[in-house]
Amino acid sequence: MGKKMRRVAYGIVSVAVLGAVGYTAWVQYGLHKSYPQTVQISSGSALQEQIKRGEYVSRLSDCTACHTAEGGKPFAGGYRLNTPFGAILSSNITSDPETGIGGWTQEQFDRAVRHGIGSHGYLYAAMPYNAYAKLTDQDLADLWAYIKTIPPVKNKVVENQLPFPFNQRWTLAGWNLLFFKDRVFEPKATASEQFNRGAYLVDGPGHCASCHTAKNLLGGDTSAYLQGGALQGWYAPDLTANPHSGLGKWSEEDIVSYLRSGTNKITASSGPMTEAIENSTQYMTDDDLKAIAQYLKALPASEAPAPTPLSSDNTAMMTGKKVYESQCSACHVSNGSGVRNMIPSLSGNPQVNSPDPSSLVNVVLNGTDGPLTHANPTAAGMPAFSQKLSDSNIADVMTYIRNSWGNAAAPVSARQIEKARLDLQAKPWLGESMHGKK
Ligand code: HEC
Ligand code: HEC
Ligand code: HEC
Repeated sequence: MGKKMRRVAYGIVSVAVLGAVGYTAWVQYGLHKSYPQTVQISSGSALQEQIKRGEYVSRLSDCTACHTAEGGKPFAGGYRLNTPFGAILSSNITSDPETGIGGWTQEQFDRAVRHGIGSHGYLYAAMPYNAYAKLTDQDLADLWAYIKTIPPVKNKVVENQLPFPFNQRWTLAGWNLLFFKDRVFEPKATASEQFNRGAYLVDGPGHCASCHTAKNLLGGDTSAYLQGGALQGWYAPDLTANPHSGLGKWSEEDIVSYLRSGTNKITASSGPMTEAIENSTQYMTDDDLKAIAQYLKALPASEAPAPTPLSSDNTAMMTGKKVYESQCSACHVSNGSGVRNMIPSLSGNPQVNSPDPSSLVNVVLNGTDGPLTHANPTAAGMPAFSQKLSDSNIADVMTYIRNSWGNAAAPVSARQIEKARLDLQAKPWLGESMHGKK
Protein backbone atom coordinates (compact mmCIF):
# COMPACT_ATOMS: atom_id res chain seq x y z
CA MET A 1 0.00 0.00 0.00
CA GLY A 2 1.26 3.45 -0.92
CA LYS A 3 1.65 6.56 1.15
CA LYS A 4 -1.25 7.01 3.46
CA MET A 5 -2.95 10.32 3.54
CA ARG A 6 -5.96 11.19 5.58
CA ARG A 7 -7.93 14.27 6.27
CA VAL A 8 -7.01 16.05 9.45
CA ALA A 9 -9.22 18.65 11.00
CA TYR A 10 -7.09 21.76 10.92
CA GLY A 11 -9.81 23.32 12.96
CA ILE A 12 -8.69 21.73 16.17
CA VAL A 13 -6.49 24.71 16.61
CA SER A 14 -9.09 27.35 16.84
CA VAL A 15 -10.90 24.96 19.06
CA ALA A 16 -8.59 25.94 21.87
CA VAL A 17 -10.09 29.37 21.58
CA LEU A 18 -13.59 27.97 21.58
CA GLY A 19 -12.91 25.84 24.58
CA ALA A 20 -11.50 28.75 26.47
CA VAL A 21 -14.90 30.31 26.30
CA GLY A 22 -15.65 27.70 28.92
CA TYR A 23 -18.26 25.02 28.71
CA THR A 24 -17.28 23.46 31.98
CA ALA A 25 -20.74 22.46 33.07
CA TRP A 26 -21.44 20.93 29.69
CA VAL A 27 -18.10 19.16 29.76
CA GLN A 28 -18.96 17.54 33.05
CA TYR A 29 -22.34 16.50 31.78
CA GLY A 30 -21.02 15.16 28.47
CA LEU A 31 -18.14 13.17 29.92
CA HIS A 32 -20.20 11.36 32.48
CA LYS A 33 -23.36 10.78 30.53
CA SER A 34 -24.35 7.12 30.37
CA TYR A 35 -25.27 5.30 27.19
CA PRO A 36 -27.50 2.32 27.96
CA GLN A 37 -27.10 -0.50 25.41
CA THR A 38 -30.29 -1.73 23.77
CA VAL A 39 -28.67 -4.54 21.74
CA GLN A 40 -26.35 -6.98 23.45
CA ILE A 41 -23.75 -9.44 22.27
CA SER A 42 -25.21 -12.88 21.54
CA SER A 43 -23.84 -16.29 22.41
CA GLY A 44 -23.25 -19.61 20.65
CA SER A 45 -23.82 -19.78 16.90
CA ALA A 46 -25.73 -16.50 16.95
CA LEU A 47 -22.49 -14.91 18.16
CA GLN A 48 -20.58 -16.31 15.17
CA GLU A 49 -23.14 -14.73 12.87
CA GLN A 50 -22.92 -11.47 14.78
CA ILE A 51 -19.12 -11.41 14.52
CA LYS A 52 -19.41 -11.86 10.76
CA ARG A 53 -21.86 -8.99 10.50
CA GLY A 54 -19.55 -6.88 12.66
CA GLU A 55 -16.61 -7.60 10.39
CA TYR A 56 -18.71 -6.25 7.53
CA VAL A 57 -19.60 -3.12 9.51
CA SER A 58 -15.87 -2.66 10.14
CA ARG A 59 -15.27 -2.92 6.36
CA LEU A 60 -18.02 -0.41 5.64
CA SER A 61 -16.49 1.95 8.20
CA ASP A 62 -12.88 1.42 7.09
CA CYS A 63 -11.62 1.13 10.69
CA THR A 64 -8.40 -0.54 9.47
CA ALA A 65 -7.38 2.43 7.33
CA CYS A 66 -6.49 4.57 10.31
CA HIS A 67 -6.01 2.03 13.06
CA THR A 68 -3.28 0.06 11.29
CA ALA A 69 0.10 1.77 10.92
CA GLU A 70 2.13 1.15 7.79
CA GLY A 71 3.87 -2.19 8.39
CA GLY A 72 2.10 -2.51 11.77
CA LYS A 73 -0.22 -5.20 13.13
CA PRO A 74 -3.93 -4.83 12.26
CA PHE A 75 -5.79 -2.45 14.58
CA ALA A 76 -2.73 -1.90 16.81
CA GLY A 77 -2.84 1.86 16.12
CA GLY A 78 0.03 4.31 15.88
CA TYR A 79 -0.93 5.60 12.43
CA ARG A 80 0.04 9.25 12.31
CA LEU A 81 -2.34 12.01 11.25
CA ASN A 82 -0.28 15.15 10.78
CA THR A 83 -1.59 18.62 11.44
CA PRO A 84 0.40 21.83 11.00
CA PHE A 85 0.69 21.94 14.81
CA GLY A 86 1.72 18.41 15.58
CA ALA A 87 0.43 14.89 15.25
CA ILE A 88 -2.50 12.84 16.43
CA LEU A 89 -1.88 9.09 16.43
CA SER A 90 -4.63 6.50 16.14
CA SER A 91 -5.32 4.36 19.19
CA ASN A 92 -4.54 0.70 19.66
CA ILE A 93 -7.98 -0.94 19.47
CA THR A 94 -6.89 -4.57 19.78
CA SER A 95 -7.98 -6.58 22.80
CA ASP A 96 -4.74 -5.99 24.70
CA PRO A 97 -5.96 -4.93 28.16
CA GLU A 98 -2.98 -2.70 28.88
CA THR A 99 -2.29 -0.79 25.65
CA GLY A 100 -5.49 -1.56 23.71
CA ILE A 101 -9.18 -1.66 24.62
CA GLY A 102 -9.21 -5.22 26.01
CA GLY A 103 -10.90 -4.39 29.28
CA TRP A 104 -13.61 -2.20 27.75
CA THR A 105 -17.36 -2.66 28.06
CA GLN A 106 -19.70 -2.24 25.10
CA GLU A 107 -20.85 1.03 26.61
CA GLN A 108 -17.28 2.38 26.68
CA PHE A 109 -16.84 1.32 23.05
CA ASP A 110 -20.11 3.03 22.13
CA ARG A 111 -19.05 6.17 23.98
CA ALA A 112 -15.86 6.35 21.89
CA VAL A 113 -17.19 5.32 18.47
CA ARG A 114 -20.57 7.10 18.43
CA HIS A 115 -20.12 9.83 21.01
CA GLY A 116 -16.45 10.85 20.72
CA ILE A 117 -15.27 10.19 24.27
CA GLY A 118 -12.25 7.89 24.62
CA SER A 119 -9.97 6.72 27.39
CA HIS A 120 -8.33 10.14 27.78
CA GLY A 121 -11.45 12.28 27.41
CA TYR A 122 -12.88 13.92 24.29
CA LEU A 123 -11.55 12.52 21.03
CA TYR A 124 -10.24 14.67 18.20
CA ALA A 125 -12.51 14.62 15.17
CA ALA A 126 -9.65 12.98 13.26
CA MET A 127 -11.55 9.92 14.51
CA PRO A 128 -14.79 10.27 12.48
CA TYR A 129 -17.19 9.79 15.41
CA ASN A 130 -19.33 12.58 13.95
CA ALA A 131 -20.23 10.14 11.12
CA TYR A 132 -20.23 6.96 13.19
CA ALA A 133 -22.78 8.60 15.54
CA LYS A 134 -25.29 7.54 12.87
CA LEU A 135 -24.57 3.80 13.30
CA THR A 136 -27.64 1.84 14.40
CA ASP A 137 -27.64 0.13 17.81
CA GLN A 138 -27.53 -3.23 16.02
CA ASP A 139 -24.51 -2.30 13.85
CA LEU A 140 -22.68 -0.88 16.87
CA ALA A 141 -23.23 -4.08 18.88
CA ASP A 142 -22.19 -6.24 15.90
CA LEU A 143 -19.08 -4.13 15.40
CA TRP A 144 -18.17 -4.54 19.05
CA ALA A 145 -18.65 -8.32 18.83
CA TYR A 146 -16.11 -8.33 15.98
CA ILE A 147 -13.59 -5.83 17.40
CA LYS A 148 -13.47 -7.88 20.61
CA THR A 149 -12.14 -10.85 18.63
CA ILE A 150 -9.07 -9.00 17.38
CA PRO A 151 -6.01 -10.66 18.91
CA PRO A 152 -4.22 -8.56 21.53
CA VAL A 153 -1.16 -6.65 20.38
CA LYS A 154 0.99 -4.80 22.89
CA ASN A 155 1.67 -1.42 21.39
CA LYS A 156 1.64 1.68 23.51
CA VAL A 157 0.44 4.71 21.58
CA VAL A 158 0.62 8.30 22.78
CA GLU A 159 -2.27 9.64 20.72
CA ASN A 160 -2.09 13.30 21.53
CA GLN A 161 1.25 14.79 20.43
CA LEU A 162 0.01 18.33 20.01
CA PRO A 163 1.65 21.18 21.90
CA PHE A 164 -0.18 23.24 24.51
CA PRO A 165 -2.88 24.56 24.23
CA PHE A 166 -4.03 22.37 21.35
CA ASN A 167 -3.49 19.25 23.41
CA GLN A 168 -6.23 20.23 25.87
CA ARG A 169 -8.99 17.74 25.20
CA TRP A 170 -11.60 19.52 27.29
CA THR A 171 -11.58 22.34 24.73
CA LEU A 172 -13.10 19.90 22.21
CA ALA A 173 -16.39 20.21 24.10
CA GLY A 174 -16.79 23.56 22.35
CA TRP A 175 -16.22 21.96 18.95
CA ASN A 176 -18.78 19.29 19.69
CA LEU A 177 -21.30 21.86 20.77
CA LEU A 178 -20.94 23.70 17.46
CA PHE A 179 -20.49 20.89 14.95
CA PHE A 180 -21.32 17.48 16.41
CA LYS A 181 -24.79 16.08 15.81
CA ASP A 182 -24.94 13.20 18.24
CA ARG A 183 -27.89 11.43 16.61
CA VAL A 184 -28.46 7.96 15.20
CA PHE A 185 -29.44 7.76 11.51
CA GLU A 186 -33.08 8.55 10.83
CA PRO A 187 -34.49 7.08 7.62
CA LYS A 188 -36.60 9.39 5.49
CA ALA A 189 -40.19 8.17 5.68
CA THR A 190 -41.00 9.18 2.11
CA ALA A 191 -37.92 7.57 0.51
CA SER A 192 -37.35 4.00 -0.68
CA GLU A 193 -35.53 1.45 1.41
CA GLN A 194 -32.65 1.48 -1.08
CA PHE A 195 -32.32 5.27 -0.89
CA ASN A 196 -32.28 5.14 2.91
CA ARG A 197 -29.68 2.37 2.91
CA GLY A 198 -27.52 4.50 0.60
CA ALA A 199 -27.91 7.57 2.79
CA TYR A 200 -26.98 5.51 5.84
CA LEU A 201 -23.87 4.05 4.21
CA VAL A 202 -22.64 7.42 2.91
CA ASP A 203 -23.30 9.48 6.04
CA GLY A 204 -22.71 6.81 8.69
CA PRO A 205 -20.11 4.05 8.33
CA GLY A 206 -18.74 5.27 4.95
CA HIS A 207 -18.01 8.76 6.37
CA CYS A 208 -17.74 10.05 2.78
CA ALA A 209 -18.36 13.64 3.89
CA SER A 210 -15.18 13.63 5.98
CA CYS A 211 -13.31 14.08 2.68
CA HIS A 212 -15.94 15.12 0.12
CA THR A 213 -17.49 18.02 2.09
CA ALA A 214 -15.48 21.24 2.41
CA LYS A 215 -14.60 22.27 5.98
CA ASN A 216 -14.86 25.67 7.62
CA LEU A 217 -11.96 27.32 9.43
CA LEU A 218 -12.76 25.41 12.58
CA GLY A 219 -12.75 22.07 10.79
CA GLY A 220 -16.52 21.63 10.90
CA ASP A 221 -18.56 20.63 7.84
CA THR A 222 -19.77 23.51 5.66
CA SER A 223 -23.26 23.33 4.20
CA ALA A 224 -21.81 22.45 0.76
CA TYR A 225 -22.63 18.80 1.45
CA LEU A 226 -20.55 16.40 -0.71
CA GLN A 227 -19.72 19.24 -3.12
CA GLY A 228 -15.96 18.63 -2.94
CA GLY A 229 -13.28 19.07 -0.28
CA ALA A 230 -9.53 19.71 -0.17
CA LEU A 231 -7.27 17.29 1.66
CA GLN A 232 -3.56 17.72 2.12
CA GLY A 233 -2.26 17.36 -1.44
CA TRP A 234 -5.52 15.94 -2.88
CA TYR A 235 -8.96 17.08 -3.84
CA ALA A 236 -12.02 14.89 -3.23
CA PRO A 237 -14.40 15.95 -6.02
CA ASP A 238 -18.03 17.02 -6.07
CA LEU A 239 -20.29 13.96 -5.75
CA THR A 240 -23.53 15.76 -6.56
CA ALA A 241 -25.29 15.77 -9.93
CA ASN A 242 -23.31 18.75 -11.25
CA PRO A 243 -22.75 17.74 -14.92
CA HIS A 244 -19.38 19.52 -15.22
CA SER A 245 -17.40 18.88 -12.04
CA GLY A 246 -19.68 16.32 -10.35
CA LEU A 247 -21.29 12.96 -11.13
CA GLY A 248 -24.08 14.36 -13.31
CA LYS A 249 -22.97 12.37 -16.36
CA TRP A 250 -22.12 9.17 -14.49
CA SER A 251 -24.64 6.32 -14.53
CA GLU A 252 -25.36 4.33 -11.38
CA GLU A 253 -23.34 1.52 -12.94
CA ASP A 254 -20.34 3.88 -13.38
CA ILE A 255 -20.44 4.63 -9.65
CA VAL A 256 -20.80 0.97 -8.69
CA SER A 257 -17.91 -0.03 -10.96
CA TYR A 258 -15.66 2.71 -9.54
CA LEU A 259 -16.36 1.78 -5.92
CA ARG A 260 -15.95 -1.94 -6.61
CA SER A 261 -12.86 -1.93 -8.84
CA GLY A 262 -11.35 1.55 -8.66
CA THR A 263 -11.96 2.07 -12.38
CA ASN A 264 -14.78 2.71 -14.82
CA LYS A 265 -15.07 3.97 -18.37
CA ILE A 266 -14.27 7.55 -17.31
CA THR A 267 -11.62 7.46 -14.63
CA ALA A 268 -9.41 5.52 -12.21
CA SER A 269 -8.96 6.22 -8.53
CA SER A 270 -5.79 7.41 -6.88
CA GLY A 271 -4.49 8.52 -3.49
CA PRO A 272 -6.83 8.47 -0.49
CA MET A 273 -9.76 7.22 -2.58
CA THR A 274 -7.74 4.20 -3.70
CA GLU A 275 -7.18 3.44 -0.01
CA ALA A 276 -10.89 3.73 0.70
CA ILE A 277 -11.66 1.45 -2.27
CA GLU A 278 -8.98 -1.12 -1.46
CA ASN A 279 -9.81 -1.31 2.26
CA SER A 280 -13.52 -0.70 2.24
CA THR A 281 -15.78 -0.20 -0.77
CA GLN A 282 -14.51 -3.15 -2.84
CA TYR A 283 -15.90 -5.40 -0.09
CA MET A 284 -19.37 -3.90 -0.19
CA THR A 285 -22.18 -6.12 -1.48
CA ASP A 286 -23.71 -5.28 -4.86
CA ASP A 287 -26.90 -4.21 -3.12
CA ASP A 288 -24.98 -1.77 -0.90
CA LEU A 289 -23.02 -0.34 -3.83
CA LYS A 290 -26.23 0.14 -5.78
CA ALA A 291 -27.81 1.83 -2.78
CA ILE A 292 -24.90 4.29 -2.57
CA ALA A 293 -25.12 4.96 -6.32
CA GLN A 294 -28.84 5.58 -6.13
CA TYR A 295 -28.43 7.93 -3.18
CA LEU A 296 -25.61 9.93 -4.82
CA LYS A 297 -27.50 10.23 -8.10
CA ALA A 298 -30.44 11.70 -6.21
CA LEU A 299 -28.37 14.53 -4.68
CA PRO A 300 -29.30 17.91 -6.13
CA ALA A 301 -26.55 19.37 -8.35
CA SER A 302 -24.19 21.87 -6.74
CA GLU A 303 -24.51 25.33 -8.19
CA ALA A 304 -20.87 25.78 -9.26
CA PRO A 305 -21.18 26.92 -12.91
CA ALA A 306 -18.78 25.73 -15.61
CA PRO A 307 -16.29 28.53 -16.43
CA THR A 308 -15.56 29.60 -20.02
CA PRO A 309 -12.67 27.52 -21.39
CA LEU A 310 -9.40 29.27 -22.30
CA SER A 311 -8.93 29.81 -25.99
CA SER A 312 -6.63 27.36 -27.77
CA ASP A 313 -4.35 30.17 -29.01
CA ASN A 314 -3.50 31.18 -25.44
CA THR A 315 0.31 30.77 -24.94
CA ALA A 316 0.01 28.33 -22.03
CA MET A 317 -2.50 26.29 -24.02
CA MET A 318 -0.16 26.14 -27.03
CA THR A 319 2.84 25.01 -24.97
CA GLY A 320 0.61 22.64 -22.99
CA LYS A 321 -0.58 20.99 -26.18
CA LYS A 322 3.02 20.31 -27.25
CA VAL A 323 3.86 18.78 -23.90
CA TYR A 324 0.66 16.71 -24.04
CA GLU A 325 1.36 15.40 -27.53
CA SER A 326 4.91 14.33 -26.66
CA GLN A 327 4.40 13.04 -23.09
CA CYS A 328 0.80 12.04 -22.53
CA SER A 329 -1.05 11.26 -25.75
CA ALA A 330 0.52 7.81 -26.17
CA CYS A 331 -1.63 6.71 -23.23
CA HIS A 332 -4.41 9.27 -22.85
CA VAL A 333 -4.85 9.66 -26.66
CA SER A 334 -4.77 12.95 -28.60
CA ASN A 335 -8.46 13.60 -28.09
CA GLY A 336 -8.21 12.90 -24.36
CA SER A 337 -10.41 9.81 -24.59
CA GLY A 338 -8.00 7.43 -22.82
CA VAL A 339 -8.52 3.68 -23.16
CA ARG A 340 -11.76 2.35 -21.74
CA ASN A 341 -11.39 0.89 -18.20
CA MET A 342 -7.58 1.10 -18.42
CA ILE A 343 -6.39 4.66 -19.01
CA PRO A 344 -8.64 7.44 -17.68
CA SER A 345 -10.39 9.66 -20.14
CA LEU A 346 -9.29 13.22 -19.48
CA SER A 347 -12.17 14.66 -21.45
CA GLY A 348 -15.44 15.01 -19.57
CA ASN A 349 -13.68 13.83 -16.40
CA PRO A 350 -15.12 15.68 -13.37
CA GLN A 351 -11.81 15.57 -11.48
CA VAL A 352 -10.06 17.29 -14.43
CA ASN A 353 -12.79 19.98 -14.34
CA SER A 354 -12.59 20.46 -10.56
CA PRO A 355 -11.91 23.99 -9.33
CA ASP A 356 -9.02 22.67 -7.22
CA PRO A 357 -6.35 20.88 -9.35
CA SER A 358 -4.50 19.31 -6.37
CA SER A 359 -5.22 15.67 -7.24
CA LEU A 360 -4.20 16.15 -10.88
CA VAL A 361 -0.97 17.87 -9.91
CA ASN A 362 -0.24 15.15 -7.36
CA VAL A 363 -0.78 12.36 -9.88
CA VAL A 364 1.32 14.01 -12.59
CA LEU A 365 4.22 14.89 -10.25
CA ASN A 366 4.42 11.67 -8.26
CA GLY A 367 2.64 9.17 -10.49
CA THR A 368 0.36 6.60 -8.92
CA ASP A 369 -0.10 2.86 -8.64
CA GLY A 370 -3.39 1.75 -10.07
CA PRO A 371 -6.05 0.66 -7.59
CA LEU A 372 -5.53 -3.01 -6.67
CA THR A 373 -8.87 -4.73 -6.23
CA HIS A 374 -10.34 -8.22 -6.52
CA ALA A 375 -12.41 -7.03 -9.46
CA ASN A 376 -9.38 -5.53 -11.21
CA PRO A 377 -6.07 -7.01 -10.03
CA THR A 378 -4.02 -5.58 -12.91
CA ALA A 379 -4.92 -1.89 -13.03
CA ALA A 380 -2.36 0.26 -14.82
CA GLY A 381 -0.40 2.98 -13.02
CA MET A 382 0.53 6.47 -14.12
CA PRO A 383 4.26 7.36 -14.41
CA ALA A 384 5.74 10.24 -12.39
CA PHE A 385 6.77 13.35 -14.32
CA SER A 386 8.46 15.35 -11.55
CA GLN A 387 11.97 14.73 -12.89
CA LYS A 388 11.02 14.88 -16.55
CA LEU A 389 9.09 18.14 -16.74
CA SER A 390 9.72 21.67 -15.45
CA ASP A 391 7.21 23.49 -13.26
CA SER A 392 6.06 25.58 -16.17
CA ASN A 393 5.68 22.59 -18.53
CA ILE A 394 3.58 20.76 -15.93
CA ALA A 395 1.50 23.89 -15.31
CA ASP A 396 0.88 24.34 -19.02
CA VAL A 397 -0.08 20.73 -19.65
CA MET A 398 -2.51 20.95 -16.69
CA THR A 399 -3.98 24.12 -18.13
CA TYR A 400 -4.26 22.43 -21.51
CA ILE A 401 -6.07 19.28 -20.32
CA ARG A 402 -8.39 21.43 -18.17
CA ASN A 403 -9.46 23.52 -21.17
CA SER A 404 -9.59 21.09 -24.11
CA TRP A 405 -12.17 18.62 -25.48
CA GLY A 406 -15.09 20.34 -23.77
CA ASN A 407 -13.30 20.72 -20.41
CA ALA A 408 -13.15 24.10 -18.70
CA ALA A 409 -11.38 24.99 -15.45
CA ALA A 410 -9.05 27.60 -13.97
CA PRO A 411 -5.51 27.58 -15.43
CA VAL A 412 -2.65 26.24 -13.30
CA SER A 413 0.44 28.39 -12.65
CA ALA A 414 4.09 27.38 -12.39
CA ARG A 415 4.03 28.79 -8.83
CA GLN A 416 1.36 26.26 -7.88
CA ILE A 417 3.53 23.42 -9.21
CA GLU A 418 6.62 24.77 -7.43
CA LYS A 419 4.71 24.83 -4.15
CA ALA A 420 3.18 21.38 -4.72
CA ARG A 421 6.66 19.95 -5.38
CA LEU A 422 7.73 21.10 -1.93
CA ASP A 423 4.54 20.12 -0.12
CA LEU A 424 4.41 16.68 -1.74
CA GLN A 425 8.16 16.12 -1.48
CA ALA A 426 8.28 15.35 -5.20
CA LYS A 427 11.65 14.84 -6.88
CA PRO A 428 13.22 17.91 -8.49
CA TRP A 429 13.19 18.45 -12.25
CA LEU A 430 16.36 17.08 -13.81
CA GLY A 431 16.82 18.77 -17.12
CA GLU A 432 16.33 21.27 -19.82
CA SER A 433 12.87 22.54 -20.44
CA MET A 434 11.39 20.52 -23.29
CA HIS A 435 9.39 23.25 -24.86
CA GLY A 436 10.98 26.66 -24.78
CA LYS A 437 10.31 28.58 -21.62
CA LYS A 438 11.54 27.48 -18.22
C1 HEC B 1 -9.93 8.67 9.69
C2 HEC B 1 -9.20 7.89 10.67
C3 HEC B 1 -9.97 6.95 11.59
C4 HEC B 1 -10.94 6.02 11.26
C5 HEC B 1 -11.49 5.71 9.88
C6 HEC B 1 -11.29 5.37 12.50
N1 HEC B 1 -10.57 5.88 13.53
FE1 HEC B 1 -10.78 5.37 15.52
N2 HEC B 1 -9.44 6.81 16.01
C7 HEC B 1 -8.71 7.58 15.14
C8 HEC B 1 -7.82 8.44 15.88
C9 HEC B 1 -6.84 9.44 15.28
C10 HEC B 1 -8.05 8.17 17.25
C11 HEC B 1 -7.39 8.87 18.43
C12 HEC B 1 -8.13 10.18 18.65
C13 HEC B 1 -7.78 10.86 19.94
O1 HEC B 1 -7.01 10.30 20.75
O2 HEC B 1 -8.34 11.93 20.16
C14 HEC B 1 -9.08 7.15 17.29
C15 HEC B 1 -9.61 6.63 18.48
C16 HEC B 1 -10.47 5.55 18.54
C17 HEC B 1 -10.94 4.94 19.77
C18 HEC B 1 -10.66 5.44 21.19
C19 HEC B 1 -9.58 4.66 21.86
C20 HEC B 1 -9.22 5.19 23.22
O3 HEC B 1 -8.44 4.53 23.90
O4 HEC B 1 -9.67 6.29 23.58
C21 HEC B 1 -11.71 3.86 19.41
C22 HEC B 1 -12.41 2.87 20.33
C23 HEC B 1 -11.72 3.80 17.97
N3 HEC B 1 -10.99 4.85 17.47
C24 HEC B 1 -12.39 2.85 17.23
C25 HEC B 1 -12.58 2.95 15.85
C26 HEC B 1 -13.46 2.06 15.11
C27 HEC B 1 -14.22 0.89 15.69
C28 HEC B 1 -13.45 2.49 13.82
C29 HEC B 1 -14.30 2.01 12.66
C30 HEC B 1 -15.73 2.02 12.95
C31 HEC B 1 -12.53 3.64 13.75
N4 HEC B 1 -12.04 3.88 15.00
C32 HEC B 1 -12.24 4.34 12.59
C33 HEC B 1 -8.82 7.58 13.77
C34 HEC B 1 -9.74 6.84 13.02
C1 HEC C 1 -10.03 9.69 2.91
C2 HEC C 1 -10.77 10.59 2.06
C3 HEC C 1 -11.95 10.03 1.26
C4 HEC C 1 -13.02 9.29 1.73
C5 HEC C 1 -13.29 8.82 3.16
C6 HEC C 1 -13.86 9.07 0.59
N1 HEC C 1 -13.32 9.63 -0.53
FE1 HEC C 1 -14.07 9.50 -2.44
N2 HEC C 1 -12.44 10.48 -3.14
C7 HEC C 1 -11.41 11.02 -2.39
C8 HEC C 1 -10.43 11.60 -3.28
C9 HEC C 1 -9.15 12.31 -2.86
C10 HEC C 1 -10.89 11.40 -4.59
C11 HEC C 1 -10.20 11.78 -5.90
C12 HEC C 1 -9.39 10.59 -6.37
C13 HEC C 1 -8.77 10.75 -7.73
O1 HEC C 1 -8.68 11.89 -8.22
O2 HEC C 1 -8.35 9.75 -8.33
C14 HEC C 1 -12.16 10.70 -4.47
C15 HEC C 1 -12.94 10.31 -5.57
C16 HEC C 1 -14.20 9.75 -5.47
C17 HEC C 1 -15.07 9.47 -6.61
C18 HEC C 1 -14.72 9.75 -8.07
C19 HEC C 1 -15.15 11.13 -8.41
C20 HEC C 1 -14.54 11.65 -9.67
O3 HEC C 1 -15.09 12.63 -10.19
O4 HEC C 1 -13.51 11.13 -10.15
C21 HEC C 1 -16.22 8.93 -6.10
C22 HEC C 1 -17.44 8.48 -6.91
C23 HEC C 1 -16.07 8.86 -4.66
N3 HEC C 1 -14.84 9.36 -4.32
C24 HEC C 1 -17.04 8.39 -3.81
C25 HEC C 1 -16.84 8.23 -2.43
C26 HEC C 1 -17.80 7.61 -1.55
C27 HEC C 1 -19.17 7.10 -1.97
C28 HEC C 1 -17.25 7.61 -0.30
C29 HEC C 1 -17.81 7.03 0.98
C30 HEC C 1 -18.19 5.63 0.91
C31 HEC C 1 -15.93 8.22 -0.41
N4 HEC C 1 -15.72 8.59 -1.71
C32 HEC C 1 -15.06 8.38 0.65
C33 HEC C 1 -11.31 10.97 -1.00
C34 HEC C 1 -12.15 10.24 -0.16
C1 HEC D 1 2.17 5.09 -19.59
C2 HEC D 1 0.83 5.62 -19.74
C3 HEC D 1 0.57 7.03 -19.25
C4 HEC D 1 1.21 8.21 -19.59
C5 HEC D 1 2.41 8.38 -20.50
C6 HEC D 1 0.51 9.26 -18.90
N1 HEC D 1 -0.51 8.74 -18.16
FE1 HEC D 1 -1.79 9.79 -17.01
N2 HEC D 1 -2.57 8.06 -16.29
C7 HEC D 1 -2.27 6.81 -16.74
C8 HEC D 1 -3.01 5.83 -15.98
C9 HEC D 1 -2.97 4.32 -16.13
C10 HEC D 1 -3.77 6.56 -15.02
C11 HEC D 1 -4.69 6.02 -13.95
C12 HEC D 1 -3.87 5.80 -12.69
C13 HEC D 1 -4.69 5.86 -11.45
O1 HEC D 1 -5.14 6.96 -11.11
O2 HEC D 1 -4.90 4.84 -10.84
C14 HEC D 1 -3.47 7.97 -15.28
C15 HEC D 1 -4.05 9.01 -14.56
C16 HEC D 1 -3.93 10.34 -14.91
C17 HEC D 1 -4.68 11.41 -14.31
C18 HEC D 1 -5.72 11.28 -13.22
C19 HEC D 1 -7.08 11.12 -13.86
C20 HEC D 1 -8.19 10.96 -12.85
O3 HEC D 1 -9.28 10.60 -13.31
O4 HEC D 1 -8.01 11.18 -11.65
C21 HEC D 1 -4.27 12.58 -14.92
C22 HEC D 1 -4.76 13.96 -14.62
C23 HEC D 1 -3.26 12.21 -15.88
N3 HEC D 1 -3.09 10.84 -15.86
C24 HEC D 1 -2.61 13.12 -16.68
C25 HEC D 1 -1.51 12.78 -17.46
C26 HEC D 1 -0.66 13.76 -18.11
C27 HEC D 1 -0.87 15.26 -18.06
C28 HEC D 1 0.32 13.06 -18.74
C29 HEC D 1 1.49 13.61 -19.49
C30 HEC D 1 2.32 14.57 -18.79
C31 HEC D 1 0.07 11.64 -18.50
N4 HEC D 1 -1.04 11.51 -17.73
C32 HEC D 1 0.84 10.60 -19.00
C33 HEC D 1 -1.38 6.49 -17.75
C34 HEC D 1 -0.51 7.39 -18.34
